[in-house]
Parts: sequence; structure tokens; C-alpha cells
Amino acid sequence: MKKAIITGITGQDGSYLTEILLKKGYEVHGIIRKSSSFNTGRIDHLYADKDILNKTLFLHYGDLVDTSNLNRLLERIEPDEIYNLAAQSHVKVSFEIPDYTAQVDALGTLRFLDAIREVGLKRVKFYQASTSELFGKVQEVPQSEKTPFYPRSPYGVAKLYGYWIIVNYREAYDIFACNGILFNHESPRRGETFVTRKITRAASAIAAGLQKTLSLGNLDAKRDWGFAPEYCEGMWKILQHKKAEDFVLATGEAHTVKEFVELTFNEIGIELEWKGKAESEKGVVKKIDYSKTEKLLDLNNKSAQYRYNFSKAIKKGDAVIVIDPNYYRPTEVDLLIGDPSKANKLLGWKAKTKFSNLVRLMVKSDMEKIFTRGY
Ligand code: NAP
Ligand code: GDD
Repeated sequence: MKKAIITGITGQDGSYLTEILLKKGYEVHGIIRKSSSFNTGRIDHLYADKDILNKTLFLHYGDLVDTSNLNRLLERIEPDEIYNLAAQSHVKVSFEIPDYTAQVDALGTLRFLDAIREVGLKRVKFYQASTSELFGKVQEVPQSEKTPFYPRSPYGVAKLYGYWIIVNYREAYDIFACNGILFNHESPRRGETFVTRKITRAASAIAAGLQKTLSLGNLDAKRDWGFAPEYCEGMWKILQHKKAEDFVLATGEAHTVKEFVELTFNEIGIELEWKGKAESEKGVVKKIDYSKTEKLLDLNNKSAQYRYNFSKAIKKGDAVIVIDPNYYRPTEVDLLIGDPSKANKLLGWKAKTKFSNLVRLMVKSDMEKIFTRGY
């Protein structure tokens, strides 16, 4: 039975990767941090399974800023594979806490690599959660493993350090360490402050009459959005490749934030039109088709039926999207679109879920949650 350590197990990717590795027969050791409230929501379904907890899934307290803790865990577990997914992963927040972001995202990676040397784990394989944010102010379109980097945030700069320290330790100490340069990937488990989930959640709350407007920042940014579980399978494939190399994982298709908004509202039966420009731009309700809303709900569920009866509060002409400049970033990444051909050729990896399906599955999940539970 192979043993894997996953840092960031409580995050979006950590939770999917855990499911994938458990299915493949791994013993999984997840590192969780101390929190004043429960932070295991995304893995509770595994945690609650008596056949899994402390049989094939083990949780350990730890933190990427605590070196001795990392050393101890490596000594004790002696893993075959390490997936370093833990990070302060929010780009906008990294402008507010740049020092902490560097401590975790840059030096945290170094601490782990050094712990591997210290403990003398010769054959361990290390996956680093690198990111398309490295490309920042893009130097070519689309971006591949060969595209020069130009990060545009403290997050991007910290991850750039993480990228190069992986390359350096691979070359200097022959550690099997790889960067997965992953473009944005989303899911119903995506953190609520990232733009896609913020949109699908707010649109559902607006449809349920629980929220009037959704405030957003830059609507024109373009991202290459894929479906997270497929990217987590890609992480595993990267470590199974015969040689330690870096890989871009992406769909090869980019869409604007505005398109994401339009499609989300369309899914729930609200057609939007845009009025005004820049900070005065608004998304206004043009047409409503409640039959589409109904299709997304299980109206046999009493709570959903109850909320649906009160939900028809939106009217034509309502401004449901407004701009709040607080969500603008001091330096923005305008366009990310990846070229995943290396991963396709060498790993047989390909993103399968199309943009419209990604939006649909995220909206459906949030509609169900909001209409049945109210949050
Ligand atoms: P996420 O949902 O924000 O999860 C981040 C995880 O890191 C959480 O489990 C968090 O714990 C943990 N964490 C944060 N600070 C830590 C620390 N100091 N010590 C230990 N654990 C810490 O992120 P994600 O979307 O799953 O992304 C996973 C990784 O891929 C991140 O490194 C991210 O930067 C990178 N990435 C993500 C994308 C994407 O589109 N999702 C794309 C490229 C790269 P809590 O639950 O306690 O907060
Ligand atoms: N979060 C957020 N909130 N973003 C907004 C908003 C808003 O209200 N309004 C517009 N945006 C724009 C941002 O300015 C950005 O251009 C785009 O939406 C995407 O923002 P996020 O969803 O926060 O993701 P990100 O692209 O900055 O970063 C994510 O992807 C990276 C990979 O490229 C994160 O998951 C990073 O951890 C990851 O490395």
C-alpha cells in the first residue's frame, strides 16, 4: 500500500485528491491546521466513514510554517508521495498579507524540501501546486511550460519562488520533485470568495429572494477554467511519469468573468443585459423564465418548495450585478489561457468538462443547497 501525504487536505483540491488516492488504494495522511471552528467540511464524508478514518485516512495537525512539525511527520510516516497543496491561495488577499503568503507559499515549500533531505527520504516523490498566476502579465498566448514568467501579485511571486526551489532541489539533490502549473479549476467545493463560486452562490441566493445584488470587481478578466477533480487526477499522473518534470494543466479555452456571470444567470432562467460603463456598469434583468429555475430544483423537497414560493421577488429591470472597486486588484492578470499539449502527449491527460457544463454543475449544486438549506 503506497503512502501519500497531502498538505491542504481541507481545501478544494485536497478533498478531491484524497478521494482519488483512497480509490487507488493509497494510505492517505492529511495535514490539517488548528482552527477555531471546524475546517474539515470538505472531507467530513470521508472522516465520518468508519471503514476509512484511521484505517486508510489519517489526519495530523501541522502547518507549513512549522519546520520541526514537518520533520517529525516525514520521519513518522515515511511517505512514497507528497502532494503540497497547502497555501494562502487567494490572490487579492495576498496583497493584504504578503509576508504571510510568502512564509507559507514560498518558504513552506522550501521547508518541506529541506525536511525531505534532513530525514533522508531518497525515493519520495513531491508534487508542488504551482499555478498559472506565474504567467501574470502574459508574455505569450497561450501559455505553456516554456512561456517566461511575469507574476503580478505577492501570491504569484511567492509561488514563483516555490516553482524555482522545486527545480533547484531536483537538479541539486536529485529529488523527484515536480511543478504542476495548473490553470484555474473550480467545482461545487470551490472556496466561496473565488469569483466562480461567489457568482454561482450569489445567483442562487438572488433566485431564492435571499439576496438582492452581487458586487464584483473586474468583469473583463479572462480565465481558463476547468473542473477540479480532473486536475487532481492530473496531479497523480504527474508523479507517476517516469521522469520528474513540470506540466501545464489547462483546458485551452478562456472566458471572461462577465461570460461566467451571464451563463450562470441564464442557467437559472434570468437573462441579463449590461448598462453603463466601468464602475457604473450594471447587470440588469431583461427576461425571466421560471421554468428553467424549476428544472434546477427538486420541488418535492418541502424546504425547496417553500423557498421557491417566496422566490419570485426579482423583476425585469432590477440591477442584480453591480461593480465594487474594492474587488479590483492593484495589479491584475488580464488573460490566462493554457496550452496543455505536453500533459496530453506525455501523461494522456486532457480536461474533459466544458465551460458550459462546469457552470451548470456549479449552479445546480448551489441552487440545491440554497433552496433546501438557505445558505
Ligand atoms: P484552497 O481551497 O484555498 O485550500 C488551501 C488549503 O491550504 C486549505 O486546506 C488550507 O487550510 C491549507 N492551508 C493554508 N495555509 C496553510 C498553512 N499555513 N499550513 C498548512 N495548511 C495551510 O486551495 P485549492 O483551490 O484547493 O488549491 C490547492 C493548491 O493549488 C493551492 O496551493 C493553490 O495555491 C494551488 N492552485 C490552485 C488553483 C485553483 O484554481 N484552485 C490553480 C493553481 C494552483 P484551511 O482549510 O484550514 O484554510
Ligand atoms: N475573487 C474575486 N472576487 N475575483 C473577482 C471578483 C470578485 O468579486 N470580481 C472580479 N474578479 C476577477 C479577479 O480580478 C480575477 O481577474 C478573476 O476574477 C479570477 O479571480 P479568482 O476567482 O479570485 O481567481 P484567481 O484567478 O485570482 O486565482 C485563482 O486561480 C489561480 C490560478 O490561476 C486561485 O485559485 C489561485 O490560488 C490560483 O493559483
